[in-house]
Amino acid sequence: MLSSLDLWVEYILRFSHLVAGISWIGSSFYFIWLDSAFEPPEEPRHNVDGEAFMVHGGFYYQVDKRKIYPGEIPKNLHWFKWEATLTFITGFLLFGYLYFLNDASLLINKQVLDISQFQAIGLSLALITMSWFIYDFIYHPRLMKNKTISNILALVLSCFLIYGATFLFSGRGAFIIVGVIYGTCMLLNVWIRILPNQAKMLNDAENGKVPDYSLGLKSKARSVHNTYFIFPVLFIMLSNHYPSIYNHELSWLMLMLIMVSGAMTRQAMITKNPKEKLLVLPAAVGILALVFITSKKDQIKETNLEELSYNDISSIVANRCLSCHAANNTDDVFNEAQKGVILETEELLLSHKDKIIKQVSSKAMPLANKTQMTKEERAKLLRYMQQ
Ligand code: HEC
Repeated sequence: MLSSLDLWVEYILRFSHLVAGISWIGSSFYFIWLDSAFEPPEEPRHNVDGEAFMVHGGFYYQVDKRKIYPGEIPKNLHWFKWEATLTFITGFLLFGYLYFLNDASLLINKQVLDISQFQAIGLSLALITMSWFIYDFIYHPRLMKNKTISNILALVLSCFLIYGATFLFSGRGAFIIVGVIYGTCMLLNVWIRILPNQAKMLNDAENGKVPDYSLGLKSKARSVHNTYFIFPVLFIMLSNHYPSIYNHELSWLMLMLIMVSGAMTRQAMITKNPKEKLLVLPAAVGILALVFITSKKDQIKETNLEELSYNDISSIVANRCLSCHAANNTDDVFNEAQKGVILETEELLLSHKDKIIKQVSSKAMPLANKTQMTKEERAKLLRYMQQ
């Protein structure tokens, strides 16, 4: 009963996060595209900088890009802020549910850093908060005047964050923390840097003043940043289903590659300059490099390569897996068979063959290597499962 309730809570959070995320990223992609599609109006019209015509679902749409001036304020103005907010709320709940509960076992790897559940939670919350202040400072229009310096600083610190996180958390934990940090910056950009400026401009117009359009440009800059965060965040969201990525010893390098390749892809998506479209090529090279990195696996040499029987490996499974994967678990935290995977007999073991190979070869299991499985045992179990 409890484990199925657990699964449903996780499922509903994941589902809501996915749906909210699709509407946020979807509207972002739409506006990125719209911005690049505007053309000067065929017949010059008062206060229209650009126009775009579209066809969708049986109708034709015309959108004008314009400024607002006193006396020209639309009655209904649609703001796009709840998609972002809901994505963040559902994402943060899912993050807390999966990574803070259960002794924070998914977040901690005792071989990397021996910390308690509360230390891990504190550390991640501190890192998330600090990162926003540093990012916001780096791009503060009054404090940092040189954009190139800001960009270089942001890139260097981002790499530092990614690399550093792998020294604090488990592979999966490090990835998700970076994702939460990017997502938090995206949301705070919306609420702290984008919406207030737009509200101020609207307010000025309503009070009969011509709004200060430099505020709009400042909002735009943060909105552009958000588009650069999209690909790395999506990659991180999906990566937690691929232990061979987040548990790889070069996982940090993969994340950096994704960050840079994602930025180039995003630039190629929006640019009108044909030369800049070519940025997809180095981006593709970056992705190929990822494939190359993951194809390199640890080589463990076994001397005795005889056919293995269930008896040869049953003690390995008993010692290293059953504490969390038995009808009656003995683990202090996981008191139900995890993901319904019970490994107590040969038949049961073989029925999960593919999953076990995936989980054990990528070192995702035993979780955080809590049962201290050795390299030799890992190789032996894998050889048995594969033969
Ligand atoms: C300390 C507890 C613990 C130990 C020890 C452990 N596991 Fe797990 N296992 C888990 C947890 C927690 C999950 C669910 C992880 C998740 O939500 O992604 C899991 C999930 C799994 C899954 C299902 C993965 C999926 O995506 O459906 C398999 C297969 C698995 N473990 C195999 C093993 C094997 C084989 C061993 C021993 C070599 C082992 N586990 C040892 C805690 C443990």
